Amino acid sequence: MGMKSDIKLIDAKGKRLDGRAIDEMRPLKIEAGVLEQADGSAYLEWGNNKVIAAVYGPRECLPRHKASPYGSTLMYRYNMAPFSVDDRKRPGRDRRSTEISKISEEALNKVVLTERFPNSMININVEVLQADAGTRCAALTAASVALADAGIPMKDMVASCAAGKAGDHIVLDLGKLEDNFGKADVPMAIVPHTGEIVLLQMDGDLSPKEFKTAMTLATKGCMMAYEEQKKALKAKYKGGGKK
Ligand code: CDP
Repeated sequence: MGMKSDIKLIDAKGKRLDGRAIDEMRPLKIEAGVLEQADGSAYLEWGNNKVIAAVYGPRECLPRHKASPYGSTLMYRYNMAPFSVDDRKRPGRDRRSTEISKISEEALNKVVLTERFPNSMININVEVLQADAGTRCAALTAASVALADAGIPMKDMVASCAAGKAGDHIVLDLGKLEDNFGKADVPMAIVPHTGEIVLLQMDGDLSPKEFKTAMTLATKGCMMAYEEQKKALKAKYKGGGKK
């Protein structure tokens, strides 16, 4: 991010490297209920990102000291497969995955009705199989569908999408090159029914005005993601799904 480069991210006609318009999201496809052993699951492709989310629980909370009499403990684990990026990624947790897991867990804590299941835990595991920028948003979007598929009571799903700055433009849903050579990335997640913001980060530099524009654009992206989330659940539960 913020890397100095001559690479031209937006052409004279306002088109991006992959032909997208400024406010166009990468193609998003979600399938609910793809894993037999999990209580709920989802597979998602967003541009070249590929992620799979699995939900287990509510079940007995282990380790015990993490249990709360006030509600279920959400445990979100974001993980990148070693083969998900150009250079092989060293397996296991690192600072980045710990951060992403923490903020995603906090976002989902705003919608899951955890108080219904005291002393239990709900595990949300997301594996990134292929990464191409925007994986935290992809992971969170898939995780919400997996939670719904598991029948976990929620106020709403959480929908997530990023906006950022490529060249001199604020654009929706940065691709890999835009993320590498762009000037800023603003991942966001909202509760679509209320518009409440449950995740908001910024990497890079934006003026206050640009930041506002990015937030408005990212909100639109979240709503588009939400439509796909609902489509995935309807496909499974209204017939037309695989199972
Ligand atoms: O994926 P997201 O945009 O949420 O997070 P990021 O930290 O901004 O990473 C942007 C992109 O960098 C990822 O989607 C990957 O494509 C890439 N990346 C990588 O190649 N190797 C890593 N160890 C971490 C990220």
